[in-house]
Amino acid sequence: MDDKEMAAAAMIQSVTLDDANDTLVILDQTVLPNEKRFLPLKEMKEIWDAIYYLKVRGAPAIGIAAGYGLYLGVKASKATTMEQLAEDFKQVKDYLASSRPTAVNLFWALDRMEARFKQEQGRSIAEIKAALREEAEAIRVEDEQVCERIGRYALSLLEPGWGILTHCNAGAIATAKYGTALAPIYLGHEQGYGFKVYADETRPLLQGARLTAWELHEAGIDVTLICDNMASIVMKEGKIQAILVGCDRVAANGDTANKIGTSAVAILAKHYGIPFYVCAPLSTVDLHCTTGDDIHIELRPEEEITSQWYEKPMAPAGVSVYNPAFDVTDHELITAIVTQHGIAYPPFTESLSAMFAKDRDK
Ligand code: MRU
Repeated sequence: MDDKEMAAAAMIQSVTLDDANDTLVILDQTVLPNEKRFLPLKEMKEIWDAIYYLKVRGAPAIGIAAGYGLYLGVKASKATTMEQLAEDFKQVKDYLASSRPTAVNLFWALDRMEARFKQEQGRSIAEIKAALREEAEAIRVEDEQVCERIGRYALSLLEPGWGILTHCNAGAIATAKYGTALAPIYLGHEQGYGFKVYADETRPLLQGARLTAWELHEAGIDVTLICDNMASIVMKEGKIQAILVGCDRVAANGDTANKIGTSAVAILAKHYGIPFYVCAPLSTVDLHCTTGDDIHIELRPEEEITSQWYEKPMAPAGVSVYNPAFDVTDHELITAIVTQHGIAYPPFTESLSAMFAKDRDK
């Protein structure tokens, strides 16, 4: 297997639609790296749970799952009138929207499906259902293209032999293909860049250890796993020349919500003078949020910290636990935001809106 084929081996499709069985098929990210298990999901409750419990996770993958989920929910509707169909549409949409609050791709995909639903008014129920399928499929296919473009732009910022630190998992399995922050690493690998990647383990849910280290290792890429609290020493030792991370929601001013711990990495990067790059499809940029203060940060169950990974609890019973799943990296700590239409530099309010203008013109 040559480098190209090895990298291709990691390009697993983590979210697909099985038309024959009317199911959403996802790679269960909670059992990786020990098991590569695909789950067929039919009921809306199963899809909601899969998103909430991070069986499908990563902002773009959540959006793709929501698009397919909404299509399947509406397809199953027994509505015989347009009013009933619209009610069923709204019910499924609102339900899926309640699964996780921070990744804007969830809402972006559901809103996009709704826009298509409205656009198709006047057609038959069967035609509307077919149009929703088409839209959900387009969300997935476009994400593949977007990730590849982000990969090419981000690669232009990197040099052969560099050490790159990443946090959480913004890889192939978090998207339709290639990933966002990992896309330039796959592309660079194919081109012989010889990157040395450091993956933060990403407490508490270990996306870095279980997913990023797995993905890159499977692809034959040089990856070293570190605990989150080791990021400073590898930077100080000169092992890191760039940081690449994904995002769950970017505000208009560039403030970026990503997996908890990302902002600490950015603060360290500033201290050590290392460029900090956010890889962001425009579906993750939310111009309705003026700053990061407008971003809703998800709070998750305390067991994720106290007991989930241990045979016995590793914290005293009854102790208070605070478990925010994301934090916001201040735009001043971000060197550039890499989108599918190019690299946005500060001031981000202007550069991000220029990226949207390019998107409209495409
Ligand atoms: O809670 P998660 O695992 O869904 O959080 C995911 C992240 O923070 C990713 O970095 C982000 O969604 C980008 S995925 C391309």
